[in-house]
Amino acid sequence: MTHRVAVRPSDVQLDVLDGEDVFSAAGRLGYRWPTVCGGRGTCRTCFVRIEEGAENCSPVDPLEREGIEALRMPVDGLTRLACRLRVEGPVTVTKRGVRRRTQE
Ligand code: FES
Repeated sequence: MTHRVAVRPSDVQLDVLDGEDVFSAAGRLGYRWPTVCGGRGTCRTCFVRIEEGAENCSPVDPLEREGIEALRMPVDGLTRLACRLRVEGPVTVTKRGVRRRTQE
């Protein structure tokens, strides 16, 4: 089962698998997502703003909470780390810099 995650403003649509985090789904589907740590939950570069579908998002885990606090953002469920975020239904997020990977 997959869940549609829409990414603004680039208008990228990701079909995220059950149990898969959004950052990994983007990579699997051929998109480059801003990161320094490569998805380990430590760089916080991957953070997103949830626009719609917060009720379909996984709970914030302790590592993610630490990261959001370090960003000086409120832990209100609307700022999330894409590499920790799992979804169970449609979600719309804002994240600049998500692009299709070009051939290297
Ligand atoms: S990719 Fe580094 S914290 Fe998510």
